[in-house]
Amino acid sequence: MAHIKDREIARHSRIMSVGVYRPERVVTNSEIIEAIDSSDEWIKERSGIHSRRIAGDDESVVSMSVAAARIALARAGISAEQLGAVICATVTYPYQTPSAATDIAMQLGAPKVPAFDISAACAGFCYGVGLASDMVRGGSANYVLLIGVEKLSDFTDPTDRGTAFIFADGAGAVVIGPSKEPGIGPTIWGSDATARDAIMMEPSWVELRNQEAPDSLGWPDIKMQGQTVFRWAVYQMAPVAEEALAAAGISAEELDAFIPHQANERIIDAMAKAMNLPESVAIARDIRTSGNTSAASIPLAMDALYSQGQIKSGDTALLIGFGAGLVYAAQVVQLP
Ligand code: UT7
Repeated sequence: MAHIKDREIARHSRIMSVGVYRPERVVTNSEIIEAIDSSDEWIKERSGIHSRRIAGDDESVVSMSVAAARIALARAGISAEQLGAVICATVTYPYQTPSAATDIAMQLGAPKVPAFDISAACAGFCYGVGLASDMVRGGSANYVLLIGVEKLSDFTDPTDRGTAFIFADGAGAVVIGPSKEPGIGPTIWGSDATARDAIMMEPSWVELRNQEAPDSLGWPDIKMQGQTVFRWAVYQMAPVAEEALAAAGISAEELDAFIPHQANERIIDAMAKAMNLPESVAIARDIRTSGNTSAASIPLAMDALYSQGQIKSGDTALLIGFGAGLVYAAQVVQLP
């Protein structure tokens, strides 16, 4: 029997750097309340959001990703040609195919690297961290560029009371590469497809094409059963986060930062309380000025904690993403 040659592969992986792009335009609550018959107080109290960034026509999924990726690559000291793969987590790239990742790779000057998108909504970044880490450790890529990016403003109905004030735009990128020590703990991930309709972009392209009257179905916007998702996140996600801690062999006391998906500040508070996180743990609250940017929210929140001086390189952080699918993923990481 012939033997396939064995090769040396990295035993461990780590996040080497993070870079972000925040759209120029800041949109306050007062600018959006009229269309949804709401108020600044209600939005702040129910979601924690004071303002968000909304991308302009010249700020696309790809341009925001490239800007964030350039910073992450420079900070990692890696050139685009050295990349073994580009993964883009997004649900708002407006082409079904080809992927955003191939365009991003091309614009970074690496048009030959393996590149693909993943669709795991607000869990996309943590799905990507698990995937990229396993790729590095499995030998299929030495350095992986992972981007979480959304231009949700393209797929949000500005008159929908349940979503218009929540969703926003932005991009975050990390480089994941080999490491001497474990820098990324086991990913605890899963889904609950019985609640597929709790967050959904509808109608489908085919329904749109087949509609009887032009525009009768509108545009594929995100529809969300807010309370269903809220309850699921509050009650089901803290145990997942605790499982990720246990799998990494890290206690809550050893943790430096908790960087959950920025869905709603009340969800962040409820999870921190359910996990009994000590006061010493820095908790990301980027939602206040960034809104809910789905796949981009965790790297954006990580960047904000650095800017606020709340975390430093080498700190231990717990990440958890959750959203449409429903899907979730969590892992403990050593911060770059
Ligand atoms: O990122 C992916 C995962 N997504 C999430 O995790 C989001 C989870 N869900 C949420 O964050 C919350 O459900 C929302 C922030 C979206 C909504 O907050 P809520 O506390 O669940 O609001 P609700 O839908 O239960 O509505 C409460 C009240 C209702 O009035 P009554 O029946 O109590 O008189 C609504 O009519 O607030 C009213 N309401 C509003 N009032 C002002 C609903 N939307 C609005 C609004 N402005 N935009």
